[in-house]
Amino acid sequence: MNQTIKFLLFVVTLGTLTACDETGDQIVAEEMTIPKGYALSAGTSTVFFNSAVAYDQPAKWVSGVYDTRFTRGDQLYDNVKTINNNGHMGGLGPVYAGYSCGSCHRNAGRTEPTLWTQGGSGTYGFTSALIYVTRKNGAFFPDYGRVIHDNAIYGVQPEGKLRVTWDFQKFQFPDGEAYELAKPNFEIYEWYADSIAPEDLFCTVRIPLRHVGMGQIMAIDRHEIEQLAARSNYPEYGISGKANYIVERGVRQLGLSGNKAQHADLTVELGFSSDMGMTNSRYPEEISEGQLQINQGSMMGLLYDQLDVSTEDMENVDLYMQSLGVPARRNVNDAHVIRGEQMFYQAKCHLCHVTTLHTQPRGSTLLAGTELPWLGGQVIHPYSDFLLHDMGSEIMGVGLNDNYVSGLARGNEWRTTPLWGVGLQQKVNGHTYFLHDGRARNFVEAIMWHGGEGEASKNLFKNMSKTDRDDLIAFLKSL
Ligand code: HEC
Ligand code: HEC
Repeated sequence: MNQTIKFLLFVVTLGTLTACDETGDQIVAEEMTIPKGYALSAGTSTVFFNSAVAYDQPAKWVSGVYDTRFTRGDQLYDNVKTINNNGHMGGLGPVYAGYSCGSCHRNAGRTEPTLWTQGGSGTYGFTSALIYVTRKNGAFFPDYGRVIHDNAIYGVQPEGKLRVTWDFQKFQFPDGEAYELAKPNFEIYEWYADSIAPEDLFCTVRIPLRHVGMGQIMAIDRHEIEQLAARSNYPEYGISGKANYIVERGVRQLGLSGNKAQHADLTVELGFSSDMGMTNSRYPEEISEGQLQINQGSMMGLLYDQLDVSTEDMENVDLYMQSLGVPARRNVNDAHVIRGEQMFYQAKCHLCHVTTLHTQPRGSTLLAGTELPWLGGQVIHPYSDFLLHDMGSEIMGVGLNDNYVSGLARGNEWRTTPLWGVGLQQKVNGHTYFLHDGRARNFVEAIMWHGGEGEASKNLFKNMSKTDRDDLIAFLKSL
């Protein structure tokens, strides 16, 4: 099909946009007319949902072969993997952190972490978090790899379990309202081999990120981000963003995904390999191959020569994530939401949580070369600059600093988390844990942990009246 016909077809499909609101009623919008109370988040990829499946809907342009591949990718993403060598469903483990992408990213979101509810790995040994470990000098442990696998198939011991304890401190807003922050302390117990001395262990924990706008992020205009890095310097607020660059597949690229912008792509191959123990063309070796327990004979039968997941399947998972629609903003005519948006600007949140960016004209290219031109040339509202910011080391003696270096990102530097869809997290995943390790239990705590370059903005919020703070949060809930 030549480009013109493709484009015409595309316009026709967009002629009417159908969507469901919370009650399941159908809303039919003509020619991108936006249903009442909603606002576009990602141009023609915007979907109008306000329910538990809001993150998990294909964009309207997904049709034909893309639809088939989307469904296939969705299944591969969600289906519980097993140890059996039965085609695409097998290959789990021997040690693993999650049993499917969807186990940690439920409904394409952020599975409720067990850090608060079970104090770590808990009874079932499944946290949905990634537990990064290194030696104190930054080197990886030869037997363990990048993350601790707190789950294992029958007959194999998990590498270790995570325990979290919390230190609490009470604070007050100038108007007297109280809030409390909680600082996590992480510890690994039940090491499969007792070779790691606690004094040589460095550990940092991440809860999953929401899959809102993955395609748009991959299609983003890199030049615009680099210009932001060069220009967005606000000495009056102590803010200056910095781009992360990493070398992947031998090419130096701008980092866009992950909490430290430490990845240039959607880490499908890494997710299968490192998180689930599923070998693939990019990571053909079992993650646990160096481990004594795996090499001790009996387990060797479980390590098949063939790869656990094919490149075609992985591309379908990539396609699924990049073709997901981005939920529209809701309740945009509500008076509190409108005021809250003004407060967001007044507190200078937008200097990092940048409201409007653009995608590059050609859209995005998936990991095996399929192109998604529909993602191109769109105006998007991710509420992020995708740059790194020093978020401080002061609050409760540590701030958000985790001392973990990723590419150019230092311990105290984090990528501005995109806020699109954040207001739906409670509906989609049933919790309001925020920040990289889920230490914030609600929006107020998330904001009050902002230090370093976020300090001035945090203080502008802190000094607002209670009404203004509440309105700002009403605005966040509309994203
Ligand atoms: C054990 C839980 C777990 C499993 C299983 C898992 N992930 Fe993740 N995922 C995470 C965590 C935690 C992060 C944040 C990591 C970080 O930034 O350090 C993340 C980040 C991501 C990101 C970056 C998102 C962004 O906004 O930048 C993508 C994309 C992703 N995962 C895709 C996948 C895919 C695809 C699979 C399956 C092949 C998968 N994940 C399996 C926990 C998991
Ligand atoms: C200096 C840049 C900067 C400014 C200014 C800033 N933020 Fe952030 N924000 C970040 C970064 C970086 C993170 C990720 C920190 C982490 O996960 O440890 C973040 C995380 C968040 C989160 C948690 C998102 C999630 O899903 O976990 C919320 C909510 C948030 N910011 C809201 C705000 C609000 C509201 C303001 C204004 C009062 C604001 N931020 C100002 C950089 C900034």
